Amino acid sequence: MTVEDQKSYVFQAKIDEQLPNVLSGNGIKIQVEKDGKVTELIDAMTGAAVGALGWGDPEVHKIMSEAATVTSYSYPAYIGNKHAEALAKFYIDNSPKGAFAGALWCGSGSESNENALKLVRQYHLEKGNIKKTKFISRTTSYHGFTIGALSISSNTRAKNFKDILLPESQCLKMPVCYEYRNKKKTESTAEYVQRLLDNLEEMILAEDPDTIAAVIVETLPGSSLGTAPPPAGYLPGIRALCNKYDVLFMLDEVMCGTGRCNPNGGLNCWENFLTVEQGPDIQTVGKTLGSGYVSIAGILISPKVRNTFLKGSGKVFGAHTYSGHAFNCLVALKVQERIKELKLTSNIFKMGNLLGEKLTESLKDSPLVGDVRGIGGFWSVELVKNKDTKESFPLPLDVCHHLQDICFDNGLTVMGNQCCNVDSGDHVSLAPSFIITEENVEQIVQIFTKSVNDLQKELIASGDF
Ligand SMILES: Cc1ncc(COP(=O)(O)O)c(C=O)c1O
Repeated sequence: MTVEDQKSYVFQAKIDEQLPNVLSGNGIKIQVEKDGKVTELIDAMTGAAVGALGWGDPEVHKIMSEAATVTSYSYPAYIGNKHAEALAKFYIDNSPKGAFAGALWCGSGSESNENALKLVRQYHLEKGNIKKTKFISRTTSYHGFTIGALSISSNTRAKNFKDILLPESQCLKMPVCYEYRNKKKTESTAEYVQRLLDNLEEMILAEDPDTIAAVIVETLPGSSLGTAPPPAGYLPGIRALCNKYDVLFMLDEVMCGTGRCNPNGGLNCWENFLTVEQGPDIQTVGKTLGSGYVSIAGILISPKVRNTFLKGSGKVFGAHTYSGHAFNCLVALKVQERIKELKLTSNIFKMGNLLGEKLTESLKDSPLVGDVRGIGGFWSVELVKNKDTKESFPLPLDVCHHLQDICFDNGLTVMGNQCCNVDSGDHVSLAPSFIITEENVEQIVQIFTKSVNDLQKELIASGDF
């Protein structure tokens, strides 16, 4: 094949195929060209849960052109900018009082977790706890695609690269919290939670608490597990163990945070489950922070961590060339201010929960749907071959991506992911923009339900169901 013969020059996803190309966006709709034909889709997933303000917002276009005229580049290791400062202040002020005292901005969720791992390490070095080098995260988790972030992840994406990741003895994995499958029939939710917490404590003790640097979890797990909300007592229990053993409690809210799932019209997902005193020591965010208009993510720092740095070296070691990028920070700030002014985080919490209720109702008789789970603006549907036994479909059938394609052809974006059930399991997620209306919710539920029924017919016809 010569270069001239190639169907695609972008080395990503399917290498020599033209993926559908997005042409434009308007509110919750996107116009996409596929095989030479342009279709309009309801964007119920906003890429990978990125959209907040809706696409093509003329106010944002104005903000972006103004931002271009008042920002310039500076290298954050020795020249800062007031927009990174203002965005940090905004996030701190719009979180519960006392939760955060600092923020560091970077370009992607992976980068934010990468930075967070280093900040965790520096925190312990500042305190003289030099043995604390181990991270405990969870099975069936995703924290990004860079080496460090993938090392604390556990899924097929991580498995493929396991020989070049950080040692497993340093990146320990505690069991995922997954009530739908892992709570025993004989157990209450409280007993299941206690079993998980006992398991974590045993792991900390077996490894030596003096070597454990942080426990890291997604507040609401996203692409790997599919939005299974943590049961009551689970996150507070982890927080208590972290306090007991001087371990940092780190939450990854890259996918579920920054307004997608906040019950108080605010920003953080953990406010559903934790008081401010129980809040994280370090938190990573991304996605909806820039709402897809700019590429920005961040690390939020609690007063405890900030004070420890201050009492120690007073410095953060190292920086990225584009950390705290002025243009991105200013656009993200204005986007967040607009979301706040329009009360859109309250809207998505209400409309998202309505979406969840309506999906649950509309899919309750589908033999393919084992579980509908989520909170606020982030929901997932787990597909099963047998609803009673919860048997998953064989992996090669790839039913989640098949459903994703059917939804696409029916005019809806959703995101399929495999392996929520260790080596099999299919779930499909929805995470629309914060602007959705009740009418949009109805449309999404109607198209999604039709697509599940279409999938069922196809699986029956092929003898796979
Ligand atoms: C929970 C979580 N953390 C981190 C990341 C990585 O973010 P990014 O793709 O922006 O690097 C993702 C991406 O989906 C995520 O879901």
